[in-house]
Amino acid sequence: MSDLVKALPVALKERILASHQSWLVTGAAGFIGSNLVEALLGLGQHVVGLDNFATGYQRNLDEVEQIVGAQAWSRFHFITGDIRNIEDCRKACAGVQHVLHQAALGSVPRSIEDPLAIHDTNCSGSLNMLVAARDARIKSFTYAASSSTYGDHPGLPKVEDQIGNLLSPYAVTKYANELYASVFARCYGFNTIGLRYFNVFGPRQDPDGAYAAVIPKWIASLIRGESVFIYGDGETSRDFCYVSNVVQANLLAATTESPMAVNQVYNIAVGDRTTLNELYSQLQTNLLPYYAHLQDAQPVYCGFRAGDVRHSLADISKATANLGFTPTQNIGQGLALAMPWYMKPRAQCRHQDDGPSRQKLDPGNGNGRILSG
Ligand SMILES: NC(=O)c1ccc[n+]([C@@H]2O[C@H](COP(=O)([O-])OP(=O)(O)OC[C@H]3O[C@@H](n4cnc5c(N)ncnc54)[C@H](O)[C@@H]3O)[C@@H](O)[C@H]2O)c1
Repeated sequence: MSDLVKALPVALKERILASHQSWLVTGAAGFIGSNLVEALLGLGQHVVGLDNFATGYQRNLDEVEQIVGAQAWSRFHFITGDIRNIEDCRKACAGVQHVLHQAALGSVPRSIEDPLAIHDTNCSGSLNMLVAARDARIKSFTYAASSSTYGDHPGLPKVEDQIGNLLSPYAVTKYANELYASVFARCYGFNTIGLRYFNVFGPRQDPDGAYAAVIPKWIASLIRGESVFIYGDGETSRDFCYVSNVVQANLLAATTESPMAVNQVYNIAVGDRTTLNELYSQLQTNLLPYYAHLQDAQPVYCGFRAGDVRHSLADISKATANLGFTPTQNIGQGLALAMPWYMKPRAQCRHQDDGPSRQKLDPGNGNGRILSG
């Protein structure tokens, strides 16, 4: 049994293991998608994966195959396809009971640079998925929403029904997904659940490229002996959530029998915040036994980044009450589980949009998409 499956609550594992169902994971070659595929195959399920490799990797799927073994892997069917194409969505939904819709172009900075691309994939693509899933009479439709929907609302912790002004095209697309989902319930009686992920981390999160998330980016920089740049004074905080908690939330949402639980959005996080200074020192402590050069390493502080939210912290009580969501890993436990993966040597892979011009951006880009969520 993989570490990921071990980390799931026992009652949930037993519930899934008891029935062999068919699941579609969109964005299956990406970070969260490939972890969902790994967990579902490990729990005896049949899984269809859909991805166009825009930001996902074949190596993620190869790693899942290696972890779950040949027998479980034979229950996986992969479709190279694009959610912007309704026929690909229909093909992927055929014969499936549950949809876990993860495919999207992430990253707030990317969306500011290229709002049209983000809109096409995240809005039009997700609408295609809703239509295809509705027409295929899918039993459950769970989709990745985002904490970016809280925008500039000052309240802490964040509660689902109090959002502010949106701060990026990415946030608009993620909020549009929620609006379409609620309208699909009203117009077509098609039920969905949206999961507003906060800052997720764990194995297979891309450490490379201009839009890498803060944890894999910093770990890669520390290992390579490169500078880690922190915007502002380092007291900016985030609710970092290990990926097994996100897998748990998806499985709970897809299998809930409670009518009260559907057609809702839920915060998915740990409900605890960590400052960037604390994060830096946790990463340094974890890596120090293996990399002596980190003994005297110090982060480099640069100016606050425009648009960065100062603090982010989730109120997860709604997910706990309605879905039974109980995070099993805090940031320290998650980092300990993920560290062997981060330290494994692997070739740097770059996508087309991470070309040479992006590599020359200012040092602040070393921080990656801290705010993405
Ligand atoms: N990682 C986080 O902290 C976080 C936080 C909030 C929300 N989310 C959301 O979670 C989901 C998964 O994110 P992730 O971190 O795993 O990102 P990721 O980039 O690793 O995975 C996204 C996957 O979607 C695929 N994809 C993109 N466009 C596609 C298209 N047109 N057709 C088919 N596949 C396509 C990509 O190739 C990739 O494999 C996304 O919807 C993202 O917006 C992530």
